[in-house]
Amino acid sequence: MMLELATGTTTTTGAATRSAPADAAAELAVPSVARVLAGLGDASFKRDHGLRYAYVAGAMANGIASVELVEAMARGGMLGFFGAAGLSKDRVEAALNRLQTEIAGQPFGVNLIHSPNESSLEDAVARMFIQRGLRLIEASAYLRLTLPVVRFRVAGIHRDAAGRIIAPNRIVAKVSRVEVATQFFSPPPAEMLNELVRTGELTAEQATLAAQIPVAQDVTAEADSAGHTDNRPLVTLLPTLLALRDRLQAQFNYTEPLRVGAAGGLSTPSGLAAAFAMGAAYVVTGSVNQACVESGSSDVVRKMLAQAEQADTAMAPAADMFEMGVKLQVLKRGTMFPMRAAKLWELFRAYPSLDAIPETDRAQLEKQFFRATLAETWASTRDFWLQRDSAHVERAERDAKHKMALVFRSYLGLSSRWANAGEPSRVMDYQVWCGPAMGAFNEWTRGTFLAAPEYRRAETVALNLLYGAAQHLRAVALRLQAIPLSPPDTLCAPIEPERLHELVNAKPV
Ligand SMILES: Cc1cc2nc3c(=O)[nH]c(=O)nc-3n(C[C@H](O)[C@H](O)[C@H](O)COP(=O)(O)O)c2cc1C
Repeated sequence: MMLELATGTTTTTGAATRSAPADAAAELAVPSVARVLAGLGDASFKRDHGLRYAYVAGAMANGIASVELVEAMARGGMLGFFGAAGLSKDRVEAALNRLQTEIAGQPFGVNLIHSPNESSLEDAVARMFIQRGLRLIEASAYLRLTLPVVRFRVAGIHRDAAGRIIAPNRIVAKVSRVEVATQFFSPPPAEMLNELVRTGELTAEQATLAAQIPVAQDVTAEADSAGHTDNRPLVTLLPTLLALRDRLQAQFNYTEPLRVGAAGGLSTPSGLAAAFAMGAAYVVTGSVNQACVESGSSDVVRKMLAQAEQADTAMAPAADMFEMGVKLQVLKRGTMFPMRAAKLWELFRAYPSLDAIPETDRAQLEKQFFRATLAETWASTRDFWLQRDSAHVERAERDAKHKMALVFRSYLGLSSRWANAGEPSRVMDYQVWCGPAMGAFNEWTRGTFLAAPEYRRAETVALNLLYGAAQHLRAVALRLQAIPLSPPDTLCAPIEPERLHELVNAKPV
C-alpha cells in the first residue's frame, strides 16, 4: 500500500512494506491533506474573524495592498488589510467606502500605521475608522501605544445581555519586539483610559470594562520581512512571543485567549508548515502579494520581483522615520535605489544643512536624484507639506536640518510612487519593498505556471501555500512513521487553480 501525497488517498501497489494492521493504524493516525488543511491555524482566530483559512495578506503601503487584493482575500475565505500608510485620509476613506460597499459582511481590515512624524494624520485616520464603523485594523510600526490606537480598540465597549464584555473593534498588532508585544497584549494604560473618560469619549463604566481586555488579542510576530524590519529570524522570534503570550495570559487571566501569528519570510509551503508547526495561530504574507496581479504595484515591478533571488534585497533608509535612522528592506536587483538612499542618509548625518553639502555631492543630487536644483526641490516639497501638514514647513523654515530631511524624504517618498506607477524614466530609482521571501517564492515556483507574473493571483498563491503546507505537514507525519510516500518528487509543487479548487473543496476524510 502506498499513500498518494497530493491528496492523501490510499493506493494499493502490492509492494506493501508494513503489515495490514500497522497500515490500518497508520491510516487512522494520519489524516488526509484536506483534513490537515482544515486544521491549520487557530480555530478561534478563524471563527472570530469569519475566515475559512488562518491566512492574512498584510497591509502594503500606498495602496499596494489594494482594494482588489483585499477583496480577493475575502472572497477566498482569507483576510486582507488595505495598505493605508502613505495615503491621505481622504484616499483611505474612499478605499474603506468601496470595501464596505463591495464586500459588506465579509472579512477585511485596514492598516493603522504609527506615524511619529505625522501624529495628526494617525489621529484623524483612526477617528475616521471609528466614525465609519470599521471593525478591524492591522496596527503596525508602533514602539509605544498611542491614544488613537487605544481609542479605536475601546470605542463602543459594553456588556451584552449575558454580562460578557464585548469590544466591537479588534486589532491585529504587528510587532517584532517583546516590549511592543507586551503593550499590545496588556490592557490599555490607565492614563489613556482616564483621558478618554475626561474627554467624554468613554464612560467610567466603559473604562472599567476596557481595563479587562488586551489592546490586541492577536499579535503578529514579524520576522525578517519586506519594508520595516529589524531582520530577526522567525525561528527565534515566534517562540519568544508564544512564551510571552502564555505569561501574559496567566497574568491577566483574560476570558478570550491571546493569539500569536507569524510573518516574515513566509512564501513557501514548507515555510508556512514550519510556522504552523511552531504554534502560529495564523500566517501573514507580504512580499508575495505585491508580486500578484491584484496589487497596486506596476507590471514592471511585478516582472522585477519575478527575477529576485534570495540575496537580492538590501536595507535602506525609511522615508517615514528617516531622521530616526530607521531602515527598511527593499529590492536591490534592477534598481540603484538602495545605494542612492544610503547616500542621502550619509549626507544627512554629515552636514547641518542643504547649503553645507559640498559642490560635487550637490551636483550629483541635482542631476541624478532630483533632476532639479535643490532650491526647486525645496519649493515643490514645501508645496506638498503646505497641503499635508503645514507645521512641517514652519519648522523647516526655522530649522535647516529639518528642511534637509524633508527634501531628502521627498526623494524617498517619490521613489516608491514611481515604482507603483511604473514610471519608465525612473526605473533606476524604484523603491520596491521586498524581503527574502520573494527569492524563496521564485525558487519554489521556478518552471511552473506560477513563475509568470501574470498567473500570480493572490488567492491562487495563498491556497497553494496553504495546501502545500498541509501536504508538507502530512508528509512529515507519514515519514515519522516510516510510511512510504508516492510520488516523492512532486512534493508540494504549485497546482493550477481549477485542480486546486477541487482539492481544497474535497470533503475532509
Ligand atoms: C510592498 C510592501 C509594503 C508594505 N507596507 C506595509 C505597511 O504599510 N504597513 C504594514 O503594517 N506592513 C507593511 N508591509 C509588511 C507586510 O504587511 C508583511 O507584514 C510583510 O511583508 C511580511 O513579510 P514578507 O515580506 O517576508 O512576506 C509591507 C510589505 C510589502 C511587501
